[in-house]
Amino acid sequence: MSKILDSFLNENLQDLRNQGLYNEIDAVEGANGPIITINGKQLINLSSNNYLGLATNEELKQVAKNAIDRYGVGAGAVRTINGTMDLHVKLEEKLAEFKGTEAAISYQSGFNCNMAAISAVMDKNDAILSDQLNHASIIDGCRLSKAKIIAYNHSDMDDLRAKAKEATESGLYNKVMVITDGVFSMDGDIAKLPEIVEIAKEYDLITYVDDAHGSGVTGKGKGTVKHFGLEKEIDFQIGTLSKAIGVVGGYVAGKKNLIDWLKVRSRPFLFSTAVTPGDVAAITHALQMIMDSTELHDQLWENGDYLKAGLKKLGFNIGASETPITPCIIGDEKLTQTFSRRLVEEGVYAKAIVFPTVPKGTGRVRNMPIASHTKEMLDDALAIYEKVGKELGII
Ligand SMILES: Cc1ncc(COP(=O)(O)O)c(C=O)c1O
Repeated sequence: MSKILDSFLNENLQDLRNQGLYNEIDAVEGANGPIITINGKQLINLSSNNYLGLATNEELKQVAKNAIDRYGVGAGAVRTINGTMDLHVKLEEKLAEFKGTEAAISYQSGFNCNMAAISAVMDKNDAILSDQLNHASIIDGCRLSKAKIIAYNHSDMDDLRAKAKEATESGLYNKVMVITDGVFSMDGDIAKLPEIVEIAKEYDLITYVDDAHGSGVTGKGKGTVKHFGLEKEIDFQIGTLSKAIGVVGGYVAGKKNLIDWLKVRSRPFLFSTAVTPGDVAAITHALQMIMDSTELHDQLWENGDYLKAGLKKLGFNIGASETPITPCIIGDEKLTQTFSRRLVEEGVYAKAIVFPTVPKGTGRVRNMPIASHTKEMLDDALAIYEKVGKELGII
C-alpha cells in the first residue's frame, strides 16, 4: 500500500475511534426478523427497516424460489441489452399501480435510483432546493447532477418559499427542483408536502419526493404522497424496495414521458445489471399483498404507538416522530454508543446513530418496531430500556 494512503487511513480511523464515531458492524447469524442472533445471542431487533416483516415472509420466499427455478439466479445483463425480463415489466406496471402514476422504472437500489434520476434531468444550468435533512443518497444524487444545491432549513416552508422566489427570479437557472424525503428517517417526521406543492406551483418547481421510509408505512401502505392525495402533483415519486417491501431495489414512479426519458438517460439503468429474477418476483408479490390488505400496516402502527408510549412514559426524549420510527435522542456520541452497547448486552439490538448520519451532538438510539414484533417482545425491550436508562442516568 502507498505510504501516504496508509498514514491517511490509520490517522483518520484512529481519530474516528477517539471521538466514538467509528461504527463497528455486527454480523447477523440468520434471518433479519423481530428477533436476531448476533455472536450466538438472541436479541430483540429494533434496528431494521423491515417494517412489515416481509423480509422473512414465507409466501414471498416461495415466490422467489419459484422465479429462480424458472428464470435462474441472475438477470444476465443490463436492462437495455437483454436483462429486461417480463418479470421486470410486470414489476414496473405494479409499481405504477401502487403509486397511482402512468408509469414506473425500477433500479437496483434506492441509493442508485437517486444517483440515476436527479442527474438525468438536472444539470449545471439548474438549481435544486434540498431539505437540509435529506438522505445522503439525495445529497449525492444532487452533487452528481452539478446543479446548484440550495439547502433550505428542515421542513421550514417560509425558508423554502424565500429560496424558491430568489432562485426563480434570479434568472440564473433553466430549471429549479425541490427535493425532499417523504418521511425523515432519523426523526420519523413527515414532509409538509401540501405546502411544498403549493410553493412548487407558484414558482413552477419540479417536485421530487423520496419516500423510502413512507411506502408501506404511511398512506395506508401506499406512501406519503398518497397520504396527502398528491399523486397527480408530484413529478418524481421515488422509493426503495428494501425497507417495507422487504427485498431490494429502488424506483421512480411518474408520468410516462418522464419514465421514457429515464429509460434512455439514467446511467445506472443503462450501465448496471438488472435486479435478480427472484427479487423482482418477490417484490411484485409484496406490492400486491400491501395493496390487498392493510393488516401488516395496522400491526406496524399498533406496535409503533405502543413502543413510543412506553419510552415516553419512561422519560426518554423521543423527538417529534409522526411514524413508527422512534428515536431516543441522547445527544453525546460516546454516551449514545455506551447506551446502545449496554442495550445489546441486556438483549435489545437498537443501534447508535451518530455523526455523520445525524448532526454532531444529536446522537440517538433509533428504534424501528416492525409488524412482526409481539407485545411481549416490546415489553421486554421496554424493561431493558428502563434498566439501562437508569443505570446511565439518561432517565
Ligand atoms: C430517503 C432514502 N433514500 C434512499 C435510501 C437508500 O435505499 P436503498 O437501501 O434501497 O439503497 C434510503 C435508505 O436508508 C433512504 O432513507
